[in-house]
Amino acid sequence: MGKLKAVVVVTMISTVLLSILWRATLHLEDNENFVRCLLDHSHPSHPISSAIYTPKSSSFSSVLESYIRNLRFNESSTPKPFLILTALHESHIQAAVTCGKSHGVQMKIRSGGHDYEGLSYVSTLPFFLLDMFNLRSIDVDIETETAWVQTGATLGEVFYRIAEKSKTHGFPAGVCPTVGVGGHISGAGYGNMMRKYGVSADNVLDALIIDANGRLLDRQSMGEDLFWAIRGGGGASFAVVLAYKIKLVRVPETVTVFQVDRTLEEDATDIVDQWQHVAYNLPQELFIRLMLDVVVKSSGEKTLRASFVSLFLGDSESLLSIMKERFPKLGLSKSDCIETSWVKSVLFWSNIPLETDIQVLLDRTPQTLDYLKRKSDYVREPIPKAGLESLWKKMMELETGI
Ligand SMILES: Cc1cc2nc3c(=O)[nH]c(=O)nc-3n(C[C@H](O)[C@H](O)[C@H](O)COP(=O)(O)OP(=O)(O)OC[C@H]3O[C@@H](n4cnc5c(N)ncnc54)[C@H](O)[C@@H]3O)c2cc1C
Ligand SMILES: *[C@@H]1O[C@H](CO)[C@@H](O)[C@H](O)[C@H]1NC(C)=O
Repeated sequence: MGKLKAVVVVTMISTVLLSILWRATLHLEDNENFVRCLLDHSHPSHPISSAIYTPKSSSFSSVLESYIRNLRFNESSTPKPFLILTALHESHIQAAVTCGKSHGVQMKIRSGGHDYEGLSYVSTLPFFLLDMFNLRSIDVDIETETAWVQTGATLGEVFYRIAEKSKTHGFPAGVCPTVGVGGHISGAGYGNMMRKYGVSADNVLDALIIDANGRLLDRQSMGEDLFWAIRGGGGASFAVVLAYKIKLVRVPETVTVFQVDRTLEEDATDIVDQWQHVAYNLPQELFIRLMLDVVVKSSGEKTLRASFVSLFLGDSESLLSIMKERFPKLGLSKSDCIETSWVKSVLFWSNIPLETDIQVLLDRTPQTLDYLKRKSDYVREPIPKAGLESLWKKMMELETGI
């Protein structure tokens, strides 16, 4: 009896082993066929081989990890691609689309990797990763107030290249310089100039895409419907966006920024209440963001802190007079205001000291990486004070470990 059991167990183990081995070989063969397909479809003048990384490549993990911007998806249990293609030329994207289709595998497109749920580099289906970070050229033309920007560029690079050529131009986009153009613009892109200039996608004039048939198309050849979709609908559902032609916007040579923090003891509730009633209706040059967190007072007790962070497209004197009239409860003073250039205001909004050289915007490594879970919602009516107070209570209850 004992012997029989042992035999059964051994047979089971070998079956499991065999099936693992069989699967591994199958994957290997699949990989090889896929690689062959890519090589077959590459343009002789733009060899694709140096853009291919398989799990056998020694730098496979580091290439994969270098644009993971959420530590939740940097785990050994996170599903991995069977191949990464770091496209160096549009023909490589065309090869990726063609081979992905003929092999029936999913293609994930990654630009800056800031997707909140890792959608650009995680899938439960067998998939390969088309990584766009090498395609990052930025061509700014101040005369026409436009720029062609490849999607592998970061927002920081876009801001830097504009500032290099003009002190009075900018681009309305998000406040985190390491966010990628590809995901950001195709998903709309909101930031601190949106009250005056709308979202990034409102400032797109043309685009270059590779469609599902591997064709390279511009605005005219793709048609207005598709052009509409890739300005807010999320690029990956429709095509690989190779580049956007953006419209630059005018900014004054001097802008004003401030950050003012107020705790409950400093009337945070009343100030937040007033902010809700005035912020949406202020002059379009003025944007004030509210952030809420819990801090510990010197007494050791917790309190709620409201931080008001602002960009004003104008000088501090005009700002102070607007604030005195429209948002007096914040008590903004001259010493809170910092006059600077628009490009430096980007540093301020990223908590980078203003003395820092703006070259820091070219740095692709985020200052910190976290385990992120983010969700958005839109408040259509002001939250009543009683609602705010119960929100504070809940936040202080939940906040531990500070
Ligand atoms: C720290 C942080 C700060 C942020 N701040 C802001 C902010 O201030 N304002 C704001 O609006 N958003 C902000 N975001 C959200 C960010 O704009 C979106 O997550 C955006 O999609 C990221 O773009 P990406 O290229 O970096 O991301 P990716 O993860 O590379 O891509 C995001 C999505 O777009 C698709 N995609 C990427 N490139 C292409 C392409 N070339 N063609 C087709 N599809 C493509 C991907 O497949 C994926 O579905 C922030 C995110 C983080 C993590
Ligand atoms: C991501 O995971 C790898 C492998 O465990 C590790 O070497 C790397 O440091 C991690 N990255 C970050 C930013 O924590």
